Amino acid sequence: MSKKFYIETMGCQMNKSDTERLEGMLFDLGYEKSEDPKYADFLLVSTCAIRQTSVDKAYSQLGVWGKRKKNNPELKIGICGCAAELDKDSLFKKMPYIDLIFGTHNIFKFPEFIKRVENGEKVCEITSVPYPEPEQLKLNRQNTVGAWIPIIEGCNNFCTYCVVPYTRGRERSRLPQLILNEAESAIASGKKEITLLGQNVDSYGKDFQNKNITLANLLRELNKIDGKFRIRFVTSYPTDITDDLIDAVAQCDKVCEYFHIPMQSGNSRILKEMNRRYDREQYFKIFNRIRNSFEEVEITSDFIAGFPGETEEEFQDTLSAIEELKIDYSNTAIYSPRPFTKAGRMTELFIADEIKEERFKRLHEINCKMTLESNKKLEGKVYEVLCESQKIKKGKLMMNARTRTGKLIHFPSERNLTGEFVNVKITKAQTWCLYAELIC
Ligand code: SAH
Ligand code: SF4
Ligand code: F3S
Repeated sequence: MSKKFYIETMGCQMNKSDTERLEGMLFDLGYEKSEDPKYADFLLVSTCAIRQTSVDKAYSQLGVWGKRKKNNPELKIGICGCAAELDKDSLFKKMPYIDLIFGTHNIFKFPEFIKRVENGEKVCEITSVPYPEPEQLKLNRQNTVGAWIPIIEGCNNFCTYCVVPYTRGRERSRLPQLILNEAESAIASGKKEITLLGQNVDSYGKDFQNKNITLANLLRELNKIDGKFRIRFVTSYPTDITDDLIDAVAQCDKVCEYFHIPMQSGNSRILKEMNRRYDREQYFKIFNRIRNSFEEVEITSDFIAGFPGETEEEFQDTLSAIEELKIDYSNTAIYSPRPFTKAGRMTELFIADEIKEERFKRLHEINCKMTLESNKKLEGKVYEVLCESQKIKKGKLMMNARTRTGKLIHFPSERNLTGEFVNVKITKAQTWCLYAELIC
């Protein structure tokens, strides 16, 4: 009987994309996937370190699995991803039941790690030198309709609150040919959407000699692939978005009118303290340039409440930025001190938890208000949507679908339309989704 694996993936789409690769490698080794960790012989948690809560969640998961080893000594347990990069030295000591620790730079060495662990070895390999990607790689795509394709890994920006440069290393772009091949095979296998991934997608190609290799040109090449499908890209750094990129999005019919441009704070002093390379005015300028370049475009952002030393007035600049710009949706977070980071050492400036939580609540409220306002604009209009999945809600069969701008739409349909493009009329907007009816 084949051995079974179970991978718990936390964090961002980059981790989800890594898991697709890890699962592909496990299939090649003859493993089967188990939907329930209870029946697995190999358990792996792919961790996120962006906030302490994400790290705590991963460790408590490992604790639960570790207890299972008492009744099943053959069980193998592993940890990978961003938290593994940070805590490599203490993990075996803290959790002696762990068999495997590896990082974000050597996922392609995974088959070798598995063999060693199967032979009873305890393996810990974290390296800052990237292990080369094999030319042929089987992937186990999680998303039935779309494909995530990493184009650049790592980050050179060193925002003072962020741990990513310490967990994912410096920027490394993937060769355009590898990306095009992966996109072509995803489309040939029936995928209807390609999402290009990177911590800073706008930096794509900057590490190559050939200056024609840019995100804008990559979008133009991908747009030439035959077939009906959509192209998206995340995440953009505000001041790295070029006019050429905006032009490419406008020119390429398959590229969706969607930009994710985290602002982090609406106050220029805090932005400087965060080591972001723009101030409030510069962000407003790029935001409005994008808004004015399209008839309809979704622009989303990220914000942090309670960065060390943030005053009430400075926090209010964040609220007013969301309102004045009418940001379509924002990911919001409470500042969490991270190891190795500059802000993490500003202990004397840390904001009390109650104040951070209260600010976060107001941030959330304004975000909900603006999201609903943004959704309301769609009411009564007709959109082409890509159907992503079917679900039963209150006894009724409903489809989940998305507009080009990424809005989540629910509409009733007896037929499972997953993977199809259909036209719908929006009937009602809510904060987190919109309701619609199918137009035949
Ligand atoms: N590269 C992207 C963001 C990657 S991290 C960018 O430059 O914006 C994803 C988000 O996590 C960030 O946008 C930020 O809002 C949040 N984040 C990062 N570090 C954080 C911390 N220490 N505390 C709270 N939120 C944090
Ligand atoms: Fe983190 Fe800043 Fe890099 Fe984004 S740009 S990953 S926030 S260091
Ligand atoms: Fe988390 Fe690492 Fe992504 S820290 S957000 S999983 S790059």
